Amino acid sequence: MQAFTYLHGLLHVERVSLEALAHEYGTPLYIYSQTHLRQRYDALVTAMADVSPLICYSVKANSNRAVIDTFRQQGAGVDIVSGGELFRALRARVDPSKIVFAGVGKTREDIEYALKERILFFTVESEQEALRISDCAEELNLPARVAFRVNPDVDAKTHKYVSTGKKENKFGMDIERTAKVCEMAAGLPHIDIVGLQMHIGSQILTAEPFAEALQKLQPLCRQLAAAHSSFKYIDIGGGIGIQYEPEHQALAPTAFADAVLPALKDLGLQVIMEPGRYLVGNAGALVCRVQYVKDNAFKRFIIADAGMNDLLRPALYQSYHEVLPVRRTEERVFADLVGPICESGDFLAQERELPDVEQDDLLAVMSAGAYGASMSSTYNSRPRPPEVMVDGDKANIIRERESWDDLVRNEA
Ligand code: LLP
Repeated sequence: MQAFTYLHGLLHVERVSLEALAHEYGTPLYIYSQTHLRQRYDALVTAMADVSPLICYSVKANSNRAVIDTFRQQGAGVDIVSGGELFRALRARVDPSKIVFAGVGKTREDIEYALKERILFFTVESEQEALRISDCAEELNLPARVAFRVNPDVDAKTHKYVSTGKKENKFGMDIERTAKVCEMAAGLPHIDIVGLQMHIGSQILTAEPFAEALQKLQPLCRQLAAAHSSFKYIDIGGGIGIQYEPEHQALAPTAFADAVLPALKDLGLQVIMEPGRYLVGNAGALVCRVQYVKDNAFKRFIIADAGMNDLLRPALYQSYHEVLPVRRTEERVFADLVGPICESGDFLAQERELPDVEQDDLLAVMSAGAYGASMSSTYNSRPRPPEVMVDGDKANIIRERESWDDLVRNEA
């Protein structure tokens, strides 16, 4: 299902018009389709049915409690990377036995919190981290389940900022080192070695890198499974790419499944997946209102009330988001869509054929459900936008717009 479609010339999310939502909640505004979230989840579960994976939704993609709760109701767990994400997940009533904790820089405080909540496992990314987790577990007299993150050194052909599985990246350990650290960790008090994990990058558009990485992990997996009775998980991370540009192809869950299922079936371990973007990316749009249209000698600038503080991806990764007019028009103009922030890097679309809009028209920046709201900031003292989730013809506000008071609340 397409979450966003035109009905009577107006862009709708499911059965609700974006114009009506913008009118009610103001702009800029994040809008999500809950039906789309559920359908993406179901499609992945169906494609991977042969191994019945535990889907641990990657909270960083969109950490709104209502989004986490939607997946929890479908049976999902979560992948977290901080104490804050653990707090959010627990508030959304995620079962701790379905929570996996990744990240290269876990603090003692994070680790102790997660141990006390009895999460499923920590993904361990270094020798020092294994030692620290053991130390915390001993102090609290609690067991610590750990899965080691392998950096398989494969090129997933992503933007360099979101590549995580190449040897020059800070993530995980190479296979030989992982084997050594496992041997060391096996002797540590309170540590149970329960699995291996990999996450090779984000917005990956072909299935081969996943298969290649998995192939590299297989021998060590077998070796560890034979050596440790506690070893039962293979966590293949996230990274499935979605469609941003109309002429580009997403990585279909079925194509992904075809590439990874043979190896996974062969291993016979419990499979864990950590999708983020795949589940939420296309389910969301950022709606903004045109403030000014300004022509200089070189080009046109469409100046909107949303900027890089609301949606950082274009500025940070030069990423492409489709821009649709909320009131349908086929007229196009070559322009930049920019925000009000005092930086030339503040753009949502650059040098593109954009809808030929006028002052006060509404635009929808598409595929903003992942790493949109969750990466937003209050830069230039701009309160963060509200978030609305639509299910059929019902719209629920799932995060209020921040106020100016919120901006200064914690200042002395
Ligand atoms: N698991 C781990 C350990 C991760 O680090 C990530 C994402 C995921 C799962 C989920 O990956 P996904 O399925 O969403 O690709 N801000 C960037 C993306 C950063 C991804 C960071 N790690 C962007 O906007 O493109």
